[in-house]
Amino acid sequence: MKAKVLILSFVVILCAGALLGQGVRSEEEIPSLWQAYADYFPIGAAVRYSSLTRHKDLLEKHFNSITAENEMKFSTLQPDEGIFAFFRADAIVEFAKKNNMLVRGHTLVWHRQYPSWLFRDGAGKASGELVLQRLETHINTVLSRYKGDVYCWDVVNEAVSDSMSEYLRRDSPWYQAVGEDYIAAAFHMAHKADPDAKLFYNDYGATRADKMEKICVLLEDLLAAGVPVHGMGMQGHWDIFGPSVSQIETAIRRYAALGLEVQITELDISLYHWNDKRKAITDPEELAGRLARQAKKYEEIFRVFREYRDVITGVTFWGVADDLTWKDQEPVRGRKDFPLLFDAEGHRPKEAFWQVVNY
Ligand code: GLA
Repeated sequence: MKAKVLILSFVVILCAGALLGQGVRSEEEIPSLWQAYADYFPIGAAVRYSSLTRHKDLLEKHFNSITAENEMKFSTLQPDEGIFAFFRADAIVEFAKKNNMLVRGHTLVWHRQYPSWLFRDGAGKASGELVLQRLETHINTVLSRYKGDVYCWDVVNEAVSDSMSEYLRRDSPWYQAVGEDYIAAAFHMAHKADPDAKLFYNDYGATRADKMEKICVLLEDLLAAGVPVHGMGMQGHWDIFGPSVSQIETAIRRYAALGLEVQITELDISLYHWNDKRKAITDPEELAGRLARQAKKYEEIFRVFREYRDVITGVTFWGVADDLTWKDQEPVRGRKDFPLLFDAEGHRPKEAFWQVVNY
């Protein structure tokens, strides 16, 4: 069964590669993505440790900002209390420095990828006070290590609920331990630890009218209370079916109207509707049609991004090339997806790349 899935994925990758390989150009004829956007905003990529070697050439040529996909999350950096594991995060920062790239820090407070000790005290639950103390130690240790190297942080990730009947996510262990004050506390701690760092609230579904309003209530309240929030991170895990370009534009304007800078922090455009849990598309014609639609979508959204260059201070892709993307596992485990600008087979620019650079 596993072998079948592997063979099928390989065939799909080959088909996509063949479709995308049309009009192959030499490396010199391929413009640098970040240079094409030098007058607009930095272009980033989220990397795994392994990408530093696997995608070295693409990273060096096309990106001037970098984010750790997982290597700066709480559970990776402090797996046991007081035991910090900086090795991989350090390697990413060193790579960035060597190549004159910015580093976006991701992420300090999230309801996932946290270590289990964080919310425990002996056999019981840790008190809110203890959790905040631990958060402060974490933030101080991490931000002082990367001061001057990491220019901005996603301080709080995904605190707002998706449910119509809920404002903040009550199933978050942060909320359960501390109540809603954990959000403001985290921003204050981060600002104290590194007053120069730009501090972001980051979330998905940030273009959906109902969720956007809740996010805005949160941000307005934080700003009114003098909490140091500087930017809104719209994750941008989108697909060829949505959100629409006008929804994206409305959201950018809405967040910018709060006086915040806006970044697209986790951009990828899936070939599948987010709710589509069916098997991979294997029909080459259908695949080609979806890739063409993806290219058009990338063209349209970058047109909007360029229009809002006064408020957009960064656009980061959630990955480098189609050979390494979380979308191969989400929402369907093992279903190959092709959400980025460079292909899976030879890291060649896809049609979507040309649509983004040729404006
Ligand atoms: C969210 C998080 C990211 C990443 C993706 C899935 O968007 O912010 O760190 O984990 O989910 O890969």
